[in-house]
Amino acid sequence: MKKLIFAASALVLSVSLVAAADDPIAVRQALMESNAASAGVAAAMLKGEMDYSPVVAKAAINALHATALAFGDYFPEGSETGGDTTASPKIWENMEGFQEAVTKFQTDSAAAAEASGKDGPADLEAFKAAITPVLGNCRGCHEDFRIQRN
Ligand code: HEC
Repeated sequence: MKKLIFAASALVLSVSLVAAADDPIAVRQALMESNAASAGVAAAMLKGEMDYSPVVAKAAINALHATALAFGDYFPEGSETGGDTTASPKIWENMEGFQEAVTKFQTDSAAAAEASGKDGPADLEAFKAAITPVLGNCRGCHEDFRIQRN
């Protein structure tokens, strides 16, 4: 029985990996939706709309960092168009520059994760100091590498 469950879950896993490989646009957009959710929680705490919680702050920072590590892998040749992508053609014209922007996002979010320690940033000031450079990456990269739709 155990074996069967294992086989079944391995199957589900491989099916979702195949789906991911087939649809890099869907994966990178899902990663970005996760970014937006983390940034939303961070903004709510920074604006005082939500009580500061070190655990929630740490979760937001770690989610941003995980996204930063994964995101750059979902821009293969051939995924320039399709779906409702807002990825700019500049990504493929200047893949090196784009990957530099991804690396900056990774470095800044790694520093924030490091600064937040085991229990999360101690207070709102510490959280603000850690996350502000990370959030600066959103607009920076979108201006250079995303088609602005209004
Ligand atoms: C290194 C570049 C880069 C960084 C950094 C970045 N983004 Fe993006 N973002 C993109 C690109 C490229 C797209 C378009 C993806 C697509 O449609 O294929 C995008 C799309 C999005 C979308 C739309 C997703 C969808 O469902 O269509 C949201 C929301 C978003 N980003 C939020 C954020 C937030 C919030 C941050 C900062 C925490 C951030 N992004 C940081 C490059 C970046």
